[in-house]
Amino acid sequence: MLQSENKSKSNRRSFDSDEGRFAQDDRPVRVAVSLGREICKNGSIMTVTAPAKVFADRIGRIEVSATMAVAAEAAKLRAQGANLVDFGAGEPHFHTPQHIKDAAIAAIEANFTRYTVVPGIPDVRKAIVERHACDFGSDYGLDEAIFTTGEKHALFNAVQILVDHGDEVILPVPYWVSFKDIIQYAGGTVVLLETSEAESFRITAAAIEKAITPKTKAIILNSPSNPAGSVVSPEDLERIVHLAHERGIYLLLDECYVYLNYEGKPVSAGSFTWAKEHMVVLGSLSKTYAMTGWRAGFALAPKAIIANLSKLQSQQTSNATSIVQKAAIAALAGSQECVNEFRAEFKELRDYMLAKVTAIPGVTCTKPEGAFYVYPNIGAFIGKGGVKSATELATKLLHEAHVVVVPGEAFGTAEHIRISYPVTKQNIDEGTRRMAEYLGRLE
Ligand SMILES: Cc1ncc(COP(=O)(O)O)c(C=O)c1O
Repeated sequence: MLQSENKSKSNRRSFDSDEGRFAQDDRPVRVAVSLGREICKNGSIMTVTAPAKVFADRIGRIEVSATMAVAAEAAKLRAQGANLVDFGAGEPHFHTPQHIKDAAIAAIEANFTRYTVVPGIPDVRKAIVERHACDFGSDYGLDEAIFTTGEKHALFNAVQILVDHGDEVILPVPYWVSFKDIIQYAGGTVVLLETSEAESFRITAAAIEKAITPKTKAIILNSPSNPAGSVVSPEDLERIVHLAHERGIYLLLDECYVYLNYEGKPVSAGSFTWAKEHMVVLGSLSKTYAMTGWRAGFALAPKAIIANLSKLQSQQTSNATSIVQKAAIAALAGSQECVNEFRAEFKELRDYMLAKVTAIPGVTCTKPEGAFYVYPNIGAFIGKGGVKSATELATKLLHEAHVVVVPGEAFGTAEHIRISYPVTKQNIDEGTRRMAEYLGRLE
């Protein structure tokens, strides 16, 4: 039988959110964090007060991805009927190749729809290591590979298992939006490494060496880079690998755009097999095979790192989608003709976009060597027409010119906007025409 509620002070309880439990021994039968009544073991009813703090500190250390925020704002305008030219999305405009889609359909038809082992079935890991070995001369075994729900997943987990509170992680600027937040979420300290626009934002071994301190735990390298399309030269890459390996610093190598290199041959630090101990290669199928929505990525690293990535993933997503694993095998082990076709078209679009953007009076732009973005400097317009920042300019371009771009602040620079060019040439013509007209009106 329930006793009437005892409102005496001694019977009021508060939930201790740090400890994750009620402060005194006489705990309720069911522990709850919401306001309400709880029945205690001794039969009395007590009032549960709200926890002092709802959200953990770590969620306050990160922000919503700026590219997602821009996409959401654009979607709102589109819903109101606006005809936007979208240079915001970081994804290919191609459809996923048919042989990859067929493999996924066949997997469903064959009822390949159950859990698999956490790091992915042996065949998908075999396809990953063989593709990488064939293209770059790396040497990883099946227990040195894990298949993940997109590369961002692999990166997030790699930072979680390697970076502790207070560890420094070197991050070259401009950086892809998520790197900073992912490091901060793990409690790491971001050490920003400025690069020079006059040198096409190129990352050099000499600059990296200067940024290293006794607290450096890891260095993030993204080549070709998002947003500037800069590529680390093969010589600098080798020197950076040496620097890191000698000091026991981990290199997190984001190879999302490794196949989209328009000037030189794609290279991977994974080919420096002597330094394998201190490298985590992070790969994505999103851009290479036009598979952004499938969420397919991977990590290649020494066995102990992969075992820990797998341990974390086992408590998180478990295996990446079984059907996507089959699609990934078709992508990685099948014909690479689609990759070559995509690259050729992206290169043509890069040249087309670069010519149009640099023809706008007041806009300058370095030539991106890879990826699929241009990163023009719009500093000449800041201070004109009440525009105080790149973010304000991007907002005005969206609302007044109906062109979607991402402001440079999201990537760590104040005078740029990122323009994504996997669109049609007609869209490039129309979008840059609108930009030129709007910017020309600013005084
Ligand atoms: C540099 C970089 N790394 C990683 C990713 C994430 O790739 P995925 O779609 O495989 O998670 C992106 C996506 O835009 C990216 O630009």
